[in-house]
Amino acid sequence: MSSSVSTRDVKDESLAELGRRRIAWAAQTMPVLGAIRQRFAKEKPFAGLRVGACLHVTTETANLVLALTAGGAEVALCASNPLSTQDDVAAMLAVDHGVNVFAVKGEDHARYYSHIEAVVKTSPQFTMDDGCDLVTTILTKFPEKLAGIIGGTEETTTGVIRLRSMEKEGVLKYPIVAVNDALTKHLFDNRYGTGQSTLDGIVRATNVLLAGKSIVVAGYGWCGRGIAQRARGMGAMVIVTEIDPTKALEAAMDGYAVMPMSEAAKRGDIFITVTGNSGVLREEHFLSMKSGALVANSGHFNVEIDIDALERLSEGEKTRPREFVEQYQLGDGRTICLLGEGRLINLAAAEGHPAAVMDMSFANQALAAEYLVLNRGKIPPSVIPVPQEIDREVARLKLAALNVSIDELTPEQRVYLESWHEGT
Ligand SMILES: NC(=O)c1ccc[n+]([C@@H]2O[C@H](COP(=O)([O-])OP(=O)(O)OC[C@H]3O[C@@H](n4cnc5c(N)ncnc54)[C@H](O)[C@@H]3O)[C@@H](O)[C@H]2O)c1
Repeated sequence: MSSSVSTRDVKDESLAELGRRRIAWAAQTMPVLGAIRQRFAKEKPFAGLRVGACLHVTTETANLVLALTAGGAEVALCASNPLSTQDDVAAMLAVDHGVNVFAVKGEDHARYYSHIEAVVKTSPQFTMDDGCDLVTTILTKFPEKLAGIIGGTEETTTGVIRLRSMEKEGVLKYPIVAVNDALTKHLFDNRYGTGQSTLDGIVRATNVLLAGKSIVVAGYGWCGRGIAQRARGMGAMVIVTEIDPTKALEAAMDGYAVMPMSEAAKRGDIFITVTGNSGVLREEHFLSMKSGALVANSGHFNVEIDIDALERLSEGEKTRPREFVEQYQLGDGRTICLLGEGRLINLAAAEGHPAAVMDMSFANQALAAEYLVLNRGKIPPSVIPVPQEIDREVARLKLAALNVSIDELTPEQRVYLESWHEGT
C-alpha cells in the first residue's frame, strides 16, 4: 500500500544538485553502509515497508535512507532537530528519490512538530528516531497508528532514556532497538564523532583559538570523554564537571581538573554541556562567569543551558555578531555568548559527525531494522539491544574497509578460554 500523504516540505528543490554531490562525497567514506545497501538492493528485505524517520537530515542520513529505499522501503523523513537540517540534502532526497521529506533548517517549534506529524500521517510501519520525538508524538497524539507498527530503532542516548521510561510505564507498544547501545555506535559516534564535531561547531561559529583556553566539559559520558580528549589535543586546559562519582574519578585519573560547576564557572573560557540533563548551566553560574565566555551545548535537547536566565540577566539586551553567536549584554557590563541557540552545536554550526563514523552508526540502524522486520511479531514491546552478531559484524566490516587485519584464536587458545581446569 502506498502512503496516503505524498507532499513534502523542503526549503528549495534547486539545491538538489549540491546535495547530490555532497551525499556522494559522504558515501565514499561509508563503505560498510554501502555494502549493506548493495545487499539490500538484491534481497529487498523492506519491500513495500513504510518507514517513518525522524533523524538529523544530513548527507550521512541520506545514505542511510538510500540503503533503506534500495531495500524496497518507502521512506518519509523529518528532522530530529530544528537546526540540523542540510537543505540541499533534503532537496536531493525529495527530487531524486521521491522521499517524502519534511525538513527545513531553522524551522520554528510549530513547523518542527507539524513535520513530525506529517511523517506520522504516512502511517509508518517502522519508526527510526533520534531523540524519541517521533515515538512520543505517535504515542500522545496518534495512538490509533500504533497498531500498524511492527518495530523501530532509536539512535541516541537521550532517546533510549525516554524509551526506557515508556517501557517502565507500560506505554511502549512495539519493540525498539537501542542502536545507541551498540558498541560500534557509542564507542565511536558519541566519543570520536561528537568529540571532533563539537569543537568543529564551536570553531566554525566563532573562529576562536582553542589553545590555552580553559574549556569546561559538563558530563563525562561517551560524548564528554571525546570532547575532553579532543580539546586537550588542541592545547586547551580541560575542566570536567560530573554528578556521577565513578565518571568523576575516571576524569580525574584521565588527568583533567574535576570540580563543581559553581567553581568551574569562574575559571572557564568555553563551556560545553553534554549531559542529556536539564539546567546544567544556570543563572548562578552565569553570574560568576568571565566576560566573553562562550557557552555551547552538544547534548540532545536545548535544555542543558538555561536560556531564559540569560534573557533575564540581560533584560533581552543582545546582539548577533556572527550567524551562530548571540552575545548577551549583562547588566553589570559583562557579556556571555550563547552558541547555536543552545542546540546541538555540532549540527547547528557544523555538519555533525564525519561520515566515516556515521558509517557504523547507520550500519547498525540498517541491520537492526532488517533484524526486526525478519523477526516481526516475535519480539514483545520492549527496548532491546542490537544483537551482538550485528555489532561484531559492523566492526568486522569496518576493519576490512580500513584494511586492518587482526589475529584469530588458535584452536588451543579457544580450548583454554573455554576451560577452567588450567591454573598456575
Ligand atoms: N551532539 C551529538 O551529535 C550527539 C551524539 C551522541 C549523543 N548526543 C547526546 O549527548 C548527550 C550525552 O550523551 P552520552 O552518550 O555522552 O551520555 P552518557 O550517559 O554516556 O553521559 C552523560 C553524562 O552526563 C553526566 N551528567 C548528568 N547530569 C549531569 C550534570 N547535571 N552535571 C554534570 N554531569 C552530568 C552523567 O553522569 C553521565 O556521565 C545525550 O543527550 C545524547 O543524546 C549528542
